[in-house]
Amino acid sequence: MGKQEYCVTGGTGFIAAYLIKSLLQHGHTVRATVRDPGDEDKVGFLWELEGAKERLKLVKADLLVPESFDDAVRGVDGVFHTASPVLVPYDDNIQESLIDPCIKGTLNVLRSCSKSQTVKRVVLTSSCSSIRYRFDAQAASPLDESNWTDLDYCKRYNLWYAFAKTSAEKEAWRIAEEHGIDLVVVNPSFVVGPLLGPKPTSTLLLVLAIIKGSL
Ligand SMILES: NC(=O)c1ccc[n+]([C@@H]2O[C@H](COP(=O)([O-])OP(=O)(O)OC[C@H]3O[C@@H](n4cnc5c(N)ncnc54)[C@H](OP(=O)(O)O)[C@@H]3O)[C@@H](O)[C@H]2O)c1
Repeated sequence: MGKQEYCVTGGTGFIAAYLIKSLLQHGHTVRATVRDPGDEDKVGFLWELEGAKERLKLVKADLLVPESFDDAVRGVDGVFHTASPVLVPYDDNIQESLIDPCIKGTLNVLRSCSKSQTVKRVVLTSSCSSIRYRFDAQAASPLDESNWTDLDYCKRYNLWYAFAKTSAEKEAWRIAEEHGIDLVVVNPSFVVGPLLGPKPTSTLLLVLAIIKGSL
């Protein structure tokens, strides 16, 4: 495969950092979207990755800003959409802090991809949370990618992350079909490992809370 250019959304994230590292190691050029490219505390570690100084570009983009990803995906060969709120306090602002960025953000990214003439494939990091929350989970097991989380189940048990990820993935498939986008979705469960960034994010904070006994 020749050297190509890829966009990774949510460049400061745990999974995104590994994607960026790997793409750079393979000689590709990477555009990583971040909310604030000037925030050295958050993005500084990315510049230390092998090949970053030559082939990494940071592009400002926010999930809640329509067309925010247009520049980031224009001209790239493929897009890895990982950006999403993950660990947010379940309070009155759940719509603003979690549901809207997750669903509207995915729509924004996919719409930007549909406008790009160059994107050959989009890889969306969904979640096993989009599969496993159902009233009939036990009877229907083993569950696989043909199963969907039941949105009514999520509402009944306040599973708003699962609600948001399921809705976002459904919207992504709808937009992809509408615009002829080659979409691949991955549905991970607990992704852990050595931290590349300066501070633990979402899942590692959960693991830390379990170790410390605060969860
Ligand atoms: N880690 C897991 O175990 C796991 C399991 C299943 C699925 N996933 C999915 O995989 C993806 C990556 O997970 P992760 O663990 O790597 O997440 P993470 O480390 O918490 O990173 C999340 C990223 O999303 C960005 N983000 C959040 N809200 C945003 C907004 N409004 N606009 C732009 N960017 C925003 C964050 O940017 P800031 O730094 O600016 O906040 C950060 O870069 C997520 O979609 C998650 O749902 C993760």
